[in-house]
Amino acid sequence: MNTTLTIALSKGRIFKETLPLLAHAGIVPVDDPDTSRKLILDTNHPEIKLVIIRASDVPTYVEYGAADVGVAGKDVLMEHGGDGLYEPLDLKIACCRLMLAGPASGKNGEARMRIATKYVASTRRYFAAQGKQVEIIKLYGSMELAPLVGLADRIVDVVDTGNTLRANGLEPLEHIADISSRLIVNKASMKMKHAAVKTLIERIGEAVAAKELMQRKK
Ligand code: ATP
Ligand code: PRP
Repeated sequence: MNTTLTIALSKGRIFKETLPLLAHAGIVPVDDPDTSRKLILDTNHPEIKLVIIRASDVPTYVEYGAADVGVAGKDVLMEHGGDGLYEPLDLKIACCRLMLAGPASGKNGEARMRIATKYVASTRRYFAAQGKQVEIIKLYGSMELAPLVGLADRIVDVVDTGNTLRANGLEPLEHIADISSRLIVNKASMKMKHAAVKTLIERIGEAVAAKELMQRKK
């Protein structure tokens, strides 16, 4: 039986914020993805590997079974569509909000708005639910620039402190969804590697609960 477990993570905030949760489950990476060029990282467990990929690719790797488990933002999962995956745990890390934002004195009439975003599916769903027709322009980053150069009237992006919006003369207009990162699991791995996956979910769940308790006590 294949007892190896592959965990998909993205570099940056998800990797950093997932590390303490993995440590609680007794999993410690041997290499640091910020200094190593390796894409498959060994851990202190010979049978547990980490694969380091783009944040938006994590659901794809897990859905196809290239990774058994992964950590992905709810924003990314809402775009991907959740059908091919299990989402057993809210890790309550990388918390932010998906928002509609725009210039303070923006267009606000009947005309069809242009919205720049990398969250095309979520934006389409949000406006469709309101019966509003909008034109969506797909971007891959730096959405805040679009209204400044006349590419779009508004943007849909994740907002945390609001500093990026403010620095570019934009303001949050409408809250679309609260976002945090989730543990996701491949459906076949949940069955075939049940004991290992179940233990991992339990340990990480304990770590999330312990962290919340600490934060409440502060
Ligand atoms: P990709 O490389 O695929 O374009 P990305 O650049 O969005 O992805 P990160 O910036 O590492 O990747 O973000 C990972 C996740 O963290 C996002 O999917 C989102 O859920 C969350 N996130 C993004 N920006 C913030 C932020 N400023 N504060 C808190 N969480 C955030
Ligand atoms: C994200 C997002 C916004 C910014 C929002 O970008 O696309 O630009 O964070 O965060 P704020 O409300 O706290 O300014 P990205 O992950 O590229 O930027 P970051 O690493 O600077 O947060």
